[in-house]
Amino acid sequence: MFTHPELLRIPGPTPIPPRVQQAMNRTMFGHRGNDMKQLLQNIRHSLKDVFGTKEEIVILSSSGTSALEAAVVNTVREGDDVLVIVGGAFGERFANICETYNLNVHRLNVTWGEAVNPEDIRQFLQKHPQTKAVFATYCETSTGVLHPIAEISKVVHETSDALIIVDGVSAVGGAVTKMDEWEVDVFVTGSQKAFMLPAGLSFIALSERAEQRAKENKQPRFYLDVLKHQTYLADNSTPFTPSMSVLMGLEEVLNMFSEEGLDNVYARHELMKEMTRAALKALNVPLLVADEFASPTVTSAIIEEDEADQLRAILNEEFGLTFAGGQQHLKGKIIRIGHMGYCSPAHVLQMISLLEIGLQRLGKDISIGEGVKAAQHVYITGGN
Ligand SMILES: Cc1ncc(COP(=O)(O)O)c(C=O)c1O
Repeated sequence: MFTHPELLRIPGPTPIPPRVQQAMNRTMFGHRGNDMKQLLQNIRHSLKDVFGTKEEIVILSSSGTSALEAAVVNTVREGDDVLVIVGGAFGERFANICETYNLNVHRLNVTWGEAVNPEDIRQFLQKHPQTKAVFATYCETSTGVLHPIAEISKVVHETSDALIIVDGVSAVGGAVTKMDEWEVDVFVTGSQKAFMLPAGLSFIALSERAEQRAKENKQPRFYLDVLKHQTYLADNSTPFTPSMSVLMGLEEVLNMFSEEGLDNVYARHELMKEMTRAALKALNVPLLVADEFASPTVTSAIIEEDEADQLRAILNEEFGLTFAGGQQHLKGKIIRIGHMGYCSPAHVLQMISLLEIGLQRLGKDISIGEGVKAAQHVYITGGN
């Protein structure tokens, strides 16, 4: 029986480039020696570019959720009023973390698949001027919505003294990120998405304002004390043993970003989004998210008659192609296609052509080749 290559097209973890895989095979060295200092020195600078900031990026050796938790425990404490934008499973996670620490959590619920209206945030903050922080998700991975962080941040600063804290786990490295220009106070991401690495590292950057709040914040924290990590980082070191092999891979990922150029990385993700969406439209497969708020890293499509999981099973068994399914009330109703990280327009053409076969196997009335044709057209014309 033919053993399929793994065609992993979920919104994380994502495929790892061979040269990154190789970099992670480097012989182990001591985490307090000069090799380690050199490695962190190399990483620190280029990492800032990916976040669009001049601030230090603290690297934690734990998955993205730990950096979300770090964002909470460093900036706010029990009883503080916070606003959490909840438009999907990851907004919900931020709210859950805040509740765990007994914050006074206000949810701004947004219909799954839609983006938050920044004016709703303004109204809330005008009524609740004591709010200490607003938590937002840049790319809501459970839907594929890219929330308008620049506008949200502007409204937060115009209306209040609250910090604006952003989960960029499935966006940073694939979607334009300008932490300083957008005046975001805390930006967080993880390693296994657009960063093309295994899970195991997460990243958190604090603005000067956020750092000041962290210094004043009496909330107990130990491993997740970002200030402690910052102190060590200034000396190209870490307070605890880091996930060194993944750091070795990160150095190579940053080399790849700089060879391609970050603007080109973002343009490639935009192109893959446009190709995927054009294909689905040509196949009359409804999209969950409107064009205006569609993420460049993940696309959700509605598979009518709740046959999304059947379609995923067909594609996985027949071709080794994995798409993600829907979460919570969208379970069985949507597929989520990851097109981020180590993914190119050629991969998009491949997965669209396989998707067409899967849809036909499922008995859907589709015209084979129409999706690929639409995606090719976008590629050739740049969408014009
Ligand atoms: C937007 C978002 N936030 C947070 C997380 C959680 O990250 P992790 O699973 O690495 O803890 C994810 C993971 O899918 C995510 O997509």
